Amino acid sequence: MQKRIGMIWTVVLLLHLTCKADEGMWIPLLLKKYNIEEMQRQGFRLTAEDVYDINRASLKDAVIGLGREGRPFFHFCTAELISREGLLITNHHCAYSLIQAHSTLTDNYLEHGFWAYDRADELENPGITASILVRIEDVTPQIAGALTAGMDEAERTKTVADISRKLEEEAVKGTDLQANVKPYFNGNQYFMSVFRIYRDVRLVGAPPSAIGKFGGDTDNWSWPRHTGDFAFLRIYAGQDNEPAPYSPENVPYRPATHFKIATQGAKEGDFTFVFGYPATTREYLTSFAIEQLVEVENPHRTAIRTAKLNIINQAMNSDPLLRLKYSAKAAGVANTWKKWQGETKGLLRFGTVEQKRRLEARFRTWATGRTPYDSVVDRYRAVYQKRKELVLADAYAQEAGLGGAEIVSFARSLTGRLAEITENDLLPEAIRQTIRTFFKDYDVATDRKILEEMLKLYNLQLPDEWKPEAVAEAGKNSGYHLYTEQFFHQSVFADSTRLLACLDRWKGTALQEKLKKDPAYLLAASVADFRLLRINPPLQEIERQLRELDRVWLTGLMEMQPEKRFYADANSTLRVAYGKIGGYSPADGIFYKPFTTLSGILEKENPAIYDYQVPQKLKELYRSKDFGPYAQDGEVPVCFIASNHTTGGNSGSPVLNADGHLIGVNFDRAWDGVMSDLQYEPSICRNISVDIRYILFIVDKLAGAGHLIREMELIE
Ligand code: ARG
Ligand code: GLU
Repeated sequence: MQKRIGMIWTVVLLLHLTCKADEGMWIPLLLKKYNIEEMQRQGFRLTAEDVYDINRASLKDAVIGLGREGRPFFHFCTAELISREGLLITNHHCAYSLIQAHSTLTDNYLEHGFWAYDRADELENPGITASILVRIEDVTPQIAGALTAGMDEAERTKTVADISRKLEEEAVKGTDLQANVKPYFNGNQYFMSVFRIYRDVRLVGAPPSAIGKFGGDTDNWSWPRHTGDFAFLRIYAGQDNEPAPYSPENVPYRPATHFKIATQGAKEGDFTFVFGYPATTREYLTSFAIEQLVEVENPHRTAIRTAKLNIINQAMNSDPLLRLKYSAKAAGVANTWKKWQGETKGLLRFGTVEQKRRLEARFRTWATGRTPYDSVVDRYRAVYQKRKELVLADAYAQEAGLGGAEIVSFARSLTGRLAEITENDLLPEAIRQTIRTFFKDYDVATDRKILEEMLKLYNLQLPDEWKPEAVAEAGKNSGYHLYTEQFFHQSVFADSTRLLACLDRWKGTALQEKLKKDPAYLLAASVADFRLLRINPPLQEIERQLRELDRVWLTGLMEMQPEKRFYADANSTLRVAYGKIGGYSPADGIFYKPFTTLSGILEKENPAIYDYQVPQKLKELYRSKDFGPYAQDGEVPVCFIASNHTTGGNSGSPVLNADGHLIGVNFDRAWDGVMSDLQYEPSICRNISVDIRYILFIVDKLAGAGHLIREMELIE
């Protein structure tokens, strides 16, 4: 027995030592210090300065963080420049809501695709921003210098915020740049990113959903995959090439550099790296946190969304108009829903809780007699114990309450905005627009069913003390069905004509009084107040304690393992991940190859299943073997997997070869390794990319958009 355990440990250790290289999302500024030698040993042919340099053009100048006005430092996706004229490539799913917003049943770009054959046809997307990183600076010394040992957590947070703001202001004074300081390593270090943020980003091209979303939510988060998940955008700038709000006078942005296209693609075993904006990982959580995630947060949030999705999917399958209205919303709900399930599965399979417990036991021994480390594990346990019922209550407040039926959040946000309008004001056009946009994609019957289900679940799953009053009331008398019917009958937010008539008739306080008696507003307010008064105060106190514990814990881990190379959790800042193209074994007896091909699309084809429909034109190209120069050994490669450590936000990231040329666009991770946000397992964690050869093939042969290819710089 002894011997066997010893053997297992040797194997585990070896795996860690040999494969560790694929794990991590690295700060471009520090590549030279921590990574470049290893990258070059693995085949990389460029220097650290080729990737990141502030004195001359480097690859970082071609990586774009896509954001939204008002929240530009949160990058919902990545994109990359691939021409001298501001052409961007990203994922179809990143541009999905833009494509959807431009679509109607007659011009259904979501279904048929969209291609601007003329610059004048490229479509404006209000509110979308494109950030280009100018530089990153380590500002840890400035921040640490202002912190003292005796500071409590609240004081510390305030000091950090104050200094960050000052540093940000100083960094961009007299320029039109924008700066943002963020914590790294649980607040042990701070870096400032300085950006130039463009505000005129247009839609240039997108394949039909049967290509761009082929496999849909059925294949989402899984491999083998055949999704042509790409779309083209373009950055426009003022005449001076600087950021400017949308204007027909704007001209295509002329970048410092752009990615060249590796038309030969890549092959198994090749070195690859991914350069983009991963949003959130939590690799240094304790066993207590993982346990809570697996037992409370993930299963409850998943169950609420299952109920929602059952209703939405039924509606979408019943009517093409409902499909169009709900497709973007459903994709969002389903995406995280599925990810939670894969994550839980992986964490259980790899015994993450057990592994973390072993680490904590080791830490405890090491920490004996070393304050403040000696008490950390016990304090963690106590805090998570208190956190449990709060995160459960909050999951329902968020997912079933405010984020349940759409009418609830709509009533709340609209009433809030209307409060600023006095008796004498006309209804602002912006509010009219919000109302039009909301109802364009709204279906009362579907939302009513969702509300009924949400209220049912909320009441069923939570103890009374965690139910907001309006939720508890809802099921008491006539039952949920009748209750929701009356609710929708009464609510002015359920019908745009009634709503607009009401807004034209009433103003100011009279209007507020009226709206605040509306059942949708009352439900929203009840849940929101409950969060504000009952959930948030204790939860925020717990989060404060966790912030401190997380910081001390990670400092301790670093002291305990001085030989280990730590990387900072993803925080929506620019990172480099590297690995190589290769398959994996999801289960005994199965091995997944790293590439899929066009033949696989035809194998999956099933006209009876929406997700597996194949456009006629693609079938014709396949049959006539009209592959142009894009095939290899008689097959067009479609997607590939590699061991780059990526996460949400990395969607659309450039996947590059050893020379820094584009071989694909990242868009997903494979099911068995989705827990990599919490624990990376080199044997099975894989990122999924769409092969650049498939992209070129579709653009050229299916869309006839050769003008886009001629803009690119192709490397044979
Ligand atoms: N799973 C990918 C990501 O996290 C793709 C999501 C979009 N696709 C979808 N079928 N919902 O963003
Ligand atoms: N599809 C994800 C995104 O939108 C990337 C997949 C992942 O989470 O790795 O960023």
